[in-house]
Amino acid sequence: MTQIHSDKILILDFGAQYTQLIARRIRELGVYCEIWAWDHEPTEILAYGAKGIILSGGPESTTLEDAPKAPQEVFDAGLPILGICYGMQTLAAQLGGATEAADAREFGHAKVDIVASDRLFAGLSDHPGSAQALDVWMSHGDHVSVAPPGFIVTGRTDRVPVATMANEDKRWYGVQFHPEVTHTKQGGALLKRFVTEICGCRTLWTAANIIEDQIERVRAQVGNDQVLLGLSGGVDSSVVAALLHRAIGDKLTCVFVDTGLLRWKEGDQVMATMAEHMGVKVIRVNAADRYFSALAGHSDPEAKRKIIGRLFVEIFDEESSKLTTASGGQVKWLAQGTIYPDVIESAGSKTGKAHVIKSHHNVGGLPEHMKLKLVEPLRELFKDEVRRIGVELGLPREMVYRHPFPGPGLGVRILGEVKPEYAELLARADAIFMEELRLWDLYDKTSQAFAVFLPVKSVGVVGDARAYEWVIALRAVETIDFMTAHWVHLPYDFLGKVSNRIINELRGVSRVVYDISGKPPATIEWE
Ligand code: XMP
Repeated sequence: MTQIHSDKILILDFGAQYTQLIARRIRELGVYCEIWAWDHEPTEILAYGAKGIILSGGPESTTLEDAPKAPQEVFDAGLPILGICYGMQTLAAQLGGATEAADAREFGHAKVDIVASDRLFAGLSDHPGSAQALDVWMSHGDHVSVAPPGFIVTGRTDRVPVATMANEDKRWYGVQFHPEVTHTKQGGALLKRFVTEICGCRTLWTAANIIEDQIERVRAQVGNDQVLLGLSGGVDSSVVAALLHRAIGDKLTCVFVDTGLLRWKEGDQVMATMAEHMGVKVIRVNAADRYFSALAGHSDPEAKRKIIGRLFVEIFDEESSKLTTASGGQVKWLAQGTIYPDVIESAGSKTGKAHVIKSHHNVGGLPEHMKLKLVEPLRELFKDEVRRIGVELGLPREMVYRHPFPGPGLGVRILGEVKPEYAELLARADAIFMEELRLWDLYDKTSQAFAVFLPVKSVGVVGDARAYEWVIALRAVETIDFMTAHWVHLPYDFLGKVSNRIINELRGVSRVVYDISGKPPATIEWE
């Protein structure tokens, strides 16, 4: 086995918005890390074998009686600790220092004057010279007012008397600011010092090593068994296919269901990339007619989602039975593109103190009787890591960096009843929008963009004749986590070009509108 997990960091999450970002930054440095909830089983902390522990920020106040605390095991482990924001405050509160609630929250840029040097700050300064200082990003209410015994104050700001503190003997550090956000200029360098210099982690977490490690693990897990994968054309399932193909070759069979609700010509592209270019065994099921007949007469969004989900399961089940008959042996494994953010435990979930409630969009489970065991080779990876290994495995960059596409596809972008002629118009309008986004170099600057079909007729003049035709809405959003989103301020010239092309090139559309709603209150999709 590769040693990829031998040097790792454990992040205990106190419910901060930025915890996943801390983990991503550390992994970008080449070091594996996991996020556990602060109330995770404490004995496992010692058994885990991390080389250092990071305590994240969080929304609570250590000045309150029942504030979340780091378990004693964190201090007993004898490991370096870095407390960030709330993590620093709980270090102070638990180790005999003091914290206090401020009158107002501090949010934004700040300058930390370094008043004593420590190993964390060695060589780091945005203002070299007589007064060493760091430009940082703050987001907090409470702060540490007295550093605990054994700690020295290493930095302060105008507003915060203990902005950073250190206990060099124990290698325990606290920073009030957020090193994980890019607004903190030396944030990356600081995390690097902690992880590599102070914790002594080697940088083994690279795309090539992740692939090698997963190949070994998958081979050990599935042996000579057949594995089935539902290929959607999306990033995650495509990367799983490429990875498993590299690991077990033709023992992997992918089922690709063409629902008729995909992007323009997507079915052919998936086959060209996965089957022809990568050599993956893919069964393409052309099921558009089945989907359109099942959806006829239904206009309720939830009903449509259920029909689409159920049909997928039915078709997948049929194909897997055929496969079993053909290969003479039972297919035992189902591969899934579950990724790390799907499985991270929420801070405080065990003690019922969770702050964040995630909404999931699951496509629905497979039938019980299939009795397949799961192989999930992306379970440890963040989306950006999935993309990096996708490229390393030879998938086209364009596919790997594509915007997300919902499971029910155009089914939730055609408002109301879904009809084949609407799906074709919408797919073509969407293709024009995407093509122009790429031409104008705007595609990678938006998180998700798409067209929506509105089943309302609007008057227009096409040629010399008065026309009474459909409306297409364009949507483009910027977001980090898809939980909240801003609409993108696309240039007017660009919008004009897309609108002209859609109206001129597509028969049946007389009007194009641009959606300027944020989330919340609007969702990203229209249904
Ligand atoms: P909303 O519309 O909830 O979308 O703001 C947030 C993100 O989720 C995607 N989405 C879905 N994905 N099945 C999916 O697989 C669904 O039913 C579904 N609905 C929304 C949406 O495209 C956006 O990225």
